[in-house]
This record gives sequence, C-alpha cells and structure tokens, in this order.
Amino acid sequence: MILVSLVITFTNQKGGVGKTTSTCALLTGLSLQNYRVLGIDMDPQGNLGFSMGLDVENVVTIYDVLKGKASIKDAIHKTEFGDIIPSNILLSGAELEFNRSGREFLLKENLDVIKNDYDFIIIDTPPSLNILTVNAYVCSNFLIIPMVPEILSLLGVSQLKETVQTVKKFYNTNLDVMGILLTKYNRRTKLTKEVEELANEIAKQLDTSVFPSKIRASVVVAESPAHGESVLLHAPSSKPTADYINFIEDVLVRCRAKKSNT
Ligand SMILES: Nc1ncnc2c1ncn2[C@@H]1O[C@H](COP(=O)(O)OP(=O)(O)OP(=O)(O)O)[C@@H](O)[C@H]1O
Ligand SMILES: [Mg+2]
Repeated sequence: MILVSLVITFTNQKGGVGKTTSTCALLTGLSLQNYRVLGIDMDPQGNLGFSMGLDVENVVTIYDVLKGKASIKDAIHKTEFGDIIPSNILLSGAELEFNRSGREFLLKENLDVIKNDYDFIIIDTPPSLNILTVNAYVCSNFLIIPMVPEILSLLGVSQLKETVQTVKKFYNTNLDVMGILLTKYNRRTKLTKEVEELANEIAKQLDTSVFPSKIRASVVVAESPAHGESVLLHAPSSKPTADYINFIEDVLVRCRAKKSNT
C-alpha cells in the first residue's frame, strides 16, 4: 500500500504522443484498484475532463483556482473513476496573466491543501514547456514521458531535459523522471530496433529508463474519449488495455522503489 500521496505528471512538449490517454488510463486503473485518485488538467485544450466523461462547460476549473477566484475544493468534480479538476481555454492566457513572482508555485500552494486526501495525483500537461508545465513539475514527485516510437518524434528532447534540470535545481529537488512510455507501438514497424535504441539513449540522458510495457496502437484508443471513458473501460479486452494494465503495475513498482529509498 502507498502511504503518502504521490504526484505524477505526464509531459512531452510534442503533441499527440498519448499524454491525455495515459493520464486517463492511469487514473482509471488506480481507481479500479481502490486508490484515491485526483486528475488535474493543466492543458488549455481541456481534453482530460472531456475524456473522463465530465461536462466541462460552465464549471469551476483549474484556471479559477490559479487566479485565486475559487478554492481548489470547489474545482474538484467527482467521476465514477476518480476526482478531476478540469481546465478550459481560459488557461491559455496563463503566460501573460500569471506574472507575479512565485508564479511557479501557484499549483503547489493550492495542491498542498488537499494533497493528503489522495493516494495519487496525476497531472496532464499541454504540448509545450511553459509556466503551466513548470507549475506541474514543481509539485511532482515523478514525470512520465510518453513518446511515439518514430525517429522524428524522438528527436529534440534537449529542451525537455533542460526544463527538468532547471526545475530540479531551483524549485523541486524531489523531481525524478520515472520513465519513458512508448505509445502507439507496433512491433511490425521496420524501424523498431533503431527506435528502441534511440529511446534507450534518450532515457539515459534523462537519468531514467524506457518502461518495459509499451502501449500498442489500436483504433479503440481513439474511440474512447467520445464515450467519456478510458480505453480500460471502453475496450477491456483490447491490446492497449492489457498494455496499460502492465504499465500501471510498472508505475506502482517504481513508486514503491522510490519510497523505500527515502
Ligand atoms: N495506443 C494508441 N493507439 C491508437 N491511437 C492512440 C493511442 N494512444 C493515443 N492515441 C490517439 O492519438 C491521439 C493523441 O493522443 P492524446 O490526446 O492522448 O495525446 P496528447 O499527448 O495528450 O496530445 P496533446 O499534446 O495534443 O495534448 C488521440 O486521438 C488518441 O486517441
Ligand atoms: Mg493531451
């Protein structure tokens, strides 16, 4: 059993790599194991709430909380498989609006109030490295980096590495990269061997490793958000669901390993 709440952020400045899909899967999977989970959407695209079946129009969002207009408790919306703090397009003004000193700590300050109500807090982030991503990194124990196993999409992690190092140095010494998660994986792809070698190389640069479980590609994943549920519920006997279940076990193992080191 996990005794202290852990904060895990899915991040990659590249778009469409499976951050939101994996956030939903981890929330749902942990919730099915009776862990108390909270998902937070730090992406102005607002995909997380929608994908978890929330009506995201006219509700209190993370934007209201970070602006100081609402308490974090008022922004928590219950779903069958965990609590969610949704986001919407208003959050896209963050870079200009959140300009006071200490703006890197806005999420952390709010999260400290409710953190102990949960075993896991999982944060979904936008495809960028900006003040929203930094706010997520500042309150996280772990980052998980989903990547699509194609040469071009694996290039260009140096910026991500720099951001992680800066946050670790100045704002959050507890931050660790838990691993790289390969998504939309297809064993028949010719490039796979080169791609795996490159992914391992990138992982080394980030002081981490590639998760042993990889998430296979399947159309059922793309269908799930329209049903307002994770692929785990939408297609329980599909390949991506089996892969996500293995991945969730990998995550729990890596969480326990960190705990026993501290
Ligand atoms: N294993 C998979 N197999 C097939 N399609 C997938 C898989 N994982 C994700 N997708 C699809 O790829 C698209 C992008 O996934 P997702 O929204 O999770 O990525 P993201 O990193 O959150 O994107 P963004 O950066 O825009 O927030 C979605 O349509 C999703 O359904
Ligand atoms: Mg997303």
